[in-house]
Amino acid sequence: MASEFAVELRDVVKKFITPEGSEMAAVDHVTMQIRNGEFFSMLGSSGCGKTTSLRMIAGFEWPTEGDVYIEGKPMGHLPPFQRNVNTVFQSYALFQHMTVFQNVAFGLEMEGASKDEIARRVGRSLEMVQLTGMDRRRPRQLSGGQQQRVALARALVKTPDVLLLDEPLGALDLKLRKEMQLELKALQQQLGITFIYVTHDQEEALTMSDRIAVMSKGKIMQMGTSVEVYERPANRFVAEFIGESNFLEGKVKSVKGDQAVVDVPAWGEELIGIATGKVKAGDDVSVSIRPEKVRLTDKQGIKENSLEAVVTTSTYIGSDTHVYLDVRGQRFKVWEQNRISTLDPRAYYANGQKVWVTLLSENTLILPKA
Ligand SMILES: Nc1ncnc2c1ncn2[C@@H]1O[C@H](COP(=O)(O)OP(=O)(O)O)[C@@H](O)[C@H]1O
Ligand SMILES: [Mg+2]
Repeated sequence: MASEFAVELRDVVKKFITPEGSEMAAVDHVTMQIRNGEFFSMLGSSGCGKTTSLRMIAGFEWPTEGDVYIEGKPMGHLPPFQRNVNTVFQSYALFQHMTVFQNVAFGLEMEGASKDEIARRVGRSLEMVQLTGMDRRRPRQLSGGQQQRVALARALVKTPDVLLLDEPLGALDLKLRKEMQLELKALQQQLGITFIYVTHDQEEALTMSDRIAVMSKGKIMQMGTSVEVYERPANRFVAEFIGESNFLEGKVKSVKGDQAVVDVPAWGEELIGIATGKVKAGDDVSVSIRPEKVRLTDKQGIKENSLEAVVTTSTYIGSDTHVYLDVRGQRFKVWEQNRISTLDPRAYYANGQKVWVTLLSENTLILPKA
């Protein structure tokens, strides 16, 4: 293998001229290294620069600054067909007047492959996406999920080293999307191809990816595994974007190793927690506590970590009960798992009920605000 990395972006900037005539950076000094065989996702809300990044890897756009490297080679202005990558678009972009077979065969025919080879490779590709026997249908005779598979088969038939997928499941309903997530992941593992996957859906990114780049306004906010970005968000933006959290504003009093002591005026308390990013004494920070990592008890727990609270709303949602609390005048949410099967209403908390909230320092994250 020529390079450890399948794809690299080195300090890539892409500027566009807006309709108003000003310049804007859709991608703003992005550096990322995607390993061979990795399932890598770019995650961020609409307009953060995901599609533009992907189009620069594919060769549909060229960077204003920096460069894209594939297998260690700078791509410069190399056109898409000279790059060993293939793209699956959200819109599928299937030819409606052609059969499934013809749609998948199209790229091979353009390459001038023999009839036998085309038949063999299309057959294998359709088998991979479980569409064997559907080859004579036209796209409109297929469900949304099946059309998605045709688009996937068409990309896979050219055996690219890298597959680029731009919100490929966006048009599917939730249940099908979840099934396809697992299928795509299994297919990627089985084929050993590098997948670069774009999504705005945090749960999708967490489920499928080996690593995720969390993006905002053209910049990478954090790159890491699902566990890293959820359990050790680099800053408040990432903690807020991925999952749910309680946030308290505070000022750092002291830092020792990866632990920090923070003064939280709203509670009149000092909290000890894990500093995930770079913070130092005097910094304004956000304290983040995930709602599923808090324990509620009837009596006071460990003294230093327990605060008295009152239940303001309690919502039973089956697997969990979502309990909203007033903790010293601050709204605070706690997800309690319903571990015991009971009809006793006391198990699910009542409005106005007094409880104790236990916060452990290992679940208390001290985050830079950026
Ligand atoms: N061809 C273009 N001309 C001008 N602006 C563009 C063009 N393509 C994208 N943009 C702008 O760049 C930003 C990032 O777009 P995009 O990469 O499509 O975001 P995402 O895929 O994350 O939703 C947006 O503000 C978008 O309007
Ligand atoms: Mg997009």
